[in-house]
Amino acid sequence: MTEERAGTDGSADAVRGRAAPLPPYPSSAGHPLFHTVHSMRDVFGFRERAMADHDLIRIKLLGPGDVYHLGHPDYFERVLLNDRDHFRKSEDFRIAFEGGLVAVEGDTWRRQREVLQPLFSRDSLRDYADGMVDAIRRRRDHWQPGTRIDLAAETSDLTLDVLFATLLGRDLDVDGDREIRTAADRLQHWFAPTSYPLPTWVPTPARRRFKRGKRRLQSVASRLLDAAAADPPADPSEADDLLSLLVALRESGVESEALTDDRLRDQVVTMIFAGHDTTATAIAFAFYALARHPEVRERFHAEVDALDGPPTITDLDALDVTERVVTETMRLFPPVYTIPRETTTDVIVDGYRIPEGATTWLTVDRVHRDPRFYDDPDAFRPERWATDLRERLPDFAYVPFGGGPRTCIGRQFALMEAQLALATVGRDYHLAWPDDDTDDPPRRLGMTTRMEPGTAVRVVER
Ligand code: HEM
Repeated sequence: MTEERAGTDGSADAVRGRAAPLPPYPSSAGHPLFHTVHSMRDVFGFRERAMADHDLIRIKLLGPGDVYHLGHPDYFERVLLNDRDHFRKSEDFRIAFEGGLVAVEGDTWRRQREVLQPLFSRDSLRDYADGMVDAIRRRRDHWQPGTRIDLAAETSDLTLDVLFATLLGRDLDVDGDREIRTAADRLQHWFAPTSYPLPTWVPTPARRRFKRGKRRLQSVASRLLDAAAADPPADPSEADDLLSLLVALRESGVESEALTDDRLRDQVVTMIFAGHDTTATAIAFAFYALARHPEVRERFHAEVDALDGPPTITDLDALDVTERVVTETMRLFPPVYTIPRETTTDVIVDGYRIPEGATTWLTVDRVHRDPRFYDDPDAFRPERWATDLRERLPDFAYVPFGGGPRTCIGRQFALMEAQLALATVGRDYHLAWPDDDTDDPPRRLGMTTRMEPGTAVRVVER
């Protein structure tokens, strides 16, 4: 696949690039209103039909304008790694996270990443393990055998419990702290498909929810920082969680410019959102997949039953089946189903022109189900990861955590949490799915894919 075709054959098209294909409908249907309405109705279906014969297409939306969908590992590698200076984080990140790690660029990003990286080191993860396991057990004990639980809400609560018990250094009330939980949920709404395609001045209900949630989450973050500031560690190297690290850096004066009060708050908002919602989705869909595949469930149960006692961090190496269940779940249902970027200049990708300032979306979920890379791509088959698949896969064909320098900082944290959560719950309970015959789990799209709120599963004692 060519990266830059400009000038290769001397024709005007090759120099300037061709216009990217539009969805394959009659040309009279290439109007932004038509695309917007279809995207609002069924964003995946519309995009899938459009990409049936193309790895790169353009959808015309009333709000963001032409959005370029890129669906090949080579494109991902170019955007996330080799040509990343021409694809910056999109405005959407800045709207949601302002000066937080996930949104900033350049030297500010490099410095922030350097400062925050120690919180995700191997040693730090080991220190979090007990808090993580305790929080998971408290949540599991909250589930009564024989009752139904709302899987989306409970996994979201579980991952917030874990995040607070570890990175934020404070236990949440299992059945309370609703203000934090609701606010953390609402950043999602910026990307609601019923609202995202519209111009930003349209005050949709989703956008109003987003704005309220963001304000609340910012005030929660400021309060958490104020509480931590009352007893700051003497030196940043003594900090053992995010809040104490941030206040110690501020007190030390070293980072005064990079870490203004607003920036500190933005880091906390970023970690609360990025650190819980994605992992909740991975865990919820893994339970869905286990419920739907009794033969995999049997192997999973055999593995967790063979542990000496309740799972701990030292058991992770023995949890091969569990690990493959998580890996395969995130292939089929990647929580971050699309990675957005914005071009900093005109670029030509495979002969197609993408103008400066255009929104580009890397379609992670499409590549994860592409038959060119995965056999029987729609099937849930965790055992495929027990083969040499990883070595055979092209680079960037499995990217649930992104790739290149901006890859997820919380990857190991999330994998450890997901495995411990599945194993801890799986030793005692099976979460039984309602008897419907659809193969597609109920999903809701926002900034991430999520299990549809209100999806009830039955807690069955094993
Ligand atoms: C299954 C769980 C998770 C998934 C699927 C996931 C996915 C991702 C992806 C795809 C990116 C790259 C975004 C981009 O390139 O634009 C990312 C970045 C990030 N993630 Fe995660 N994530 C998960 C868990 C976590 C956790 C647990 C944390 C923190 C506790 C976290 C914090 C972050 C942050 C701060 C970034 C921005 C990194 C940077 O730009 O340097 N994530 N994540």
